[in-house]
This record gives sequence, structure tokens and C-alpha cells, in this order.
Amino acid sequence: MANMELTFIAIKLDNVQHGLVGEIIKLLKQKDFYLVAMKFLQASEELLKQDYIDLKDPPFFPGLVKYMNSGPVVAMVWEGQNVVKTGRVMHGETNPADSMPGTIQGDVYIQVGRNIIHGSDSVKSAEKEISLLFKPEELVTYKSCAFDGIYE
Ligand code: RTP
Ligand code: MG
Repeated sequence: MANMELTFIAIKLDNVQHGLVGEIIKLLKQKDFYLVAMKFLQASEELLKQDYIDLKDPPFFPGLVKYMNSGPVVAMVWEGQNVVKTGRVMHGETNPADSMPGTIQGDVYIQVGRNIIHGSDSVKSAEKEISLLFKPEELVTYKSCAFDGIYE
């Protein structure tokens, strides 16, 4: 199947505290993506610095690591056709203020430095992020009974 991909999606702490984890999972599932791995954790500074290495130069980097390290995140791997791109469309823009209503960031939250969801921006970065957070045996791939109704 063309563009059948995995992506890494993390729900950030404020969203965990606001109890929207289930809502976000519901939206991704409703879209017919498959959840293949999930962890609830507090990411270490070291892990976050590796994950966000491409952003080490902008001034918001220390604040980003501090924010992400200050509480729990829900880390997930989702599978589906074009899930990297579509996942990010569902998130909305990096800055909640630029995000359309109906997107996750557009419906919840105001400030870019306190946004609520992270998603890989390419298949390659998804591979890197998944390998940082999950062992290969933690990815549970399966064929949903609804698969043939979703994909032609
Ligand atoms: P993400 O990685 O979280 O999915 O977000 P993104 O690709 O849309 O944006 P990216 O440039 O990768 O930024 C990662 C996270 O850094 C924080 N940020 N703060 N204060 C600022 O100007 C600023 N810019 C980015 C956000 O938490 C963003 O999600
Ligand atoms: Mg990013």
C-alpha cells in the first residue's frame, strides 16, 4: 500500500492535565488511523534534547525542553496512509493562534510555547523519534477487521 507510514505523536502535559487524551485518540481513530504503540512518561531532558536537536539554536529551545520535561506526556505511534502529513493537518499549525477551528490546536490552547500536541514532520523524523521512544518489539502492528472497508 503506497504511503502506508508510521508517525510519532505526543500529547503534551497541559493536555494530559486537561483530560483531552481520550479526545485526541478518538479523533485519530475516527480518521481510521491505527494506534500501534503508546506510553505515558515523563521525558528526561537528555531525551528531549535529542528529540528536538534540530531546534537547538532558536531562543525558545531551553523553554521548550523545560516545558516538555515539567510533566507527563503521552507518546504514541500511529499507522496509516499519509499519516505523517494528515496527522499534522489534524494538529493545525505550530502556533495555536494560526490554527483553524476544527484542528486540535485551533480548538484548544492559545500560545505557541504551550501548545498541546507534537507530531513528526516527515517519515524520516518519525523513524528517528519512534526509535528514541520505543523498542521495535513495542510496536504492535496488526490488520484491523475494518481495513478492507477503509482502503481500496
Ligand atoms: P511539533 O514539533 O511540536 O509538532 O511542532 P512543529 O513541528 O509544528 O514546530 P517546531 O518548529 O518543530 O517546534 C517544536 C515546538 O517548539 C515550540 N515552539 N515555540 N516560542 C516559539 O516561538 C516557539 N516556536 C516553536 C512549540 O511547542 C512547538 O510545538
Ligand atoms: Mg516539529
